[in-house]
Amino acid sequence: MADLLVHLEPPYKVHISSSALEQMIVPHAVIVVIADEAVALLHAARVTALLEAAGSRVVLLPVPSGERCKTMGVMAEVLSKIAAAGLTRDSAIVALGGGATSDLAGYVAASYLRGVAFYVLPTTLLAMVDASVGGKTGVNLPEGKNLVGAFHQPSAVWADLSTLETLPSRTFKEGAAEAFKHGLLTDGALCDAILEPGFGAGSAKLEAVVAAAVQVKIDLVQRDPFEAGERAYLNFGHTLAHALEAVTLHALPHGEAVGYGLHFAALIGKTLGYSDLTTLTRAFLEYQRPAGLPNLEWRDLLAFMGRDKKADAGGLRFVTLQALGAPKLERVSGAVLEEAWKLFEDEFLR
Ligand SMILES: NC(=O)c1ccc[n+]([C@@H]2O[C@H](COP(=O)([O-])OP(=O)(O)OC[C@H]3O[C@@H](n4cnc5c(N)ncnc54)[C@H](O)[C@@H]3O)[C@@H](O)[C@H]2O)c1
Repeated sequence: MADLLVHLEPPYKVHISSSALEQMIVPHAVIVVIADEAVALLHAARVTALLEAAGSRVVLLPVPSGERCKTMGVMAEVLSKIAAAGLTRDSAIVALGGGATSDLAGYVAASYLRGVAFYVLPTTLLAMVDASVGGKTGVNLPEGKNLVGAFHQPSAVWADLSTLETLPSRTFKEGAAEAFKHGLLTDGALCDAILEPGFGAGSAKLEAVVAAAVQVKIDLVQRDPFEAGERAYLNFGHTLAHALEAVTLHALPHGEAVGYGLHFAALIGKTLGYSDLTTLTRAFLEYQRPAGLPNLEWRDLLAFMGRDKKADAGGLRFVTLQALGAPKLERVSGAVLEEAWKLFEDEFLR
């Protein structure tokens, strides 16, 4: 078991092991488990039995799978059900599912009675290495993704690696893109571990890889709890990724768009004369095997990138890597971007 401490006020721990659920402690008399409905079919019986064995009353609330739960409508329904169940201030909300479920459940926990305790049981690799830590919660609006939300840190995260065995391999590899990004933001050791043959759910090194990837997120969150500065480094590769998701109308899943985005960001670094990390990012794409890209127009992508939250009146800003572990946020000229895009096009679109 890896137990990682998040030094925030109050501090909390991220527990990672293949039997974290059996070790889980959620010391509340009444617990509402907000569960992704598909994940509930696979794992809720185990979670409920363990919480009840510890003496809690458990209310299971299944919500639509994945992104479909992140709406104000689902949020309102869940809040009403919780109120009807008589949840009090000393009760707890537990999220069981991927990042979408924990974003919703965390926002419910932040809002109900102006804040009740929140625990995360992440069941995707992405949720383990990224979404479950750091306290960003929220839902989408028809006008855009993650437009409403709150910072609400969990009281603990119990990441049980055995739950990843039911995750489709394609979804596992989406999460691997974020873990790989954490490797690029540090010394690259994580990248090498992910690229080792046989890496996947159930592999012997998974606990060490997840723990190392979570530690990178913890370090950034501790330095910048409200995303005022350095936490933006976690956006490495995401500017193009968000544009690719938008122009493909989300046919390209997020983690695969991030796989391409990491490579594009590495091509920008290469164009700027920084360390050439494109061999690493290309190797990741060979491991991930993302869906192919349709014909894309650079001007369409540029228009979407202009709406990125890092863009300002002066133009587009990108997280770049001068070398492994040396990120910075900088303005990148249109000429450099276009040059990097031509290299990208030569590899993936011709
Ligand atoms: N709060 C944050 O800091 C943060 C960070 C990154 C991403 N996010 C959010 O996370 C969301 C994406 O999360 P995600 O990639 O974990 O995907 P997800 O929650 O959308 O789940 C993806 C799919 O995997 C299925 N699934 C989940 N666990 C499973 C399991 N163990 N076995 C079988 N199927 C399983 C779900 O039913 C769903 O269909 C996005 O909404 C994103 O905005 C939040």
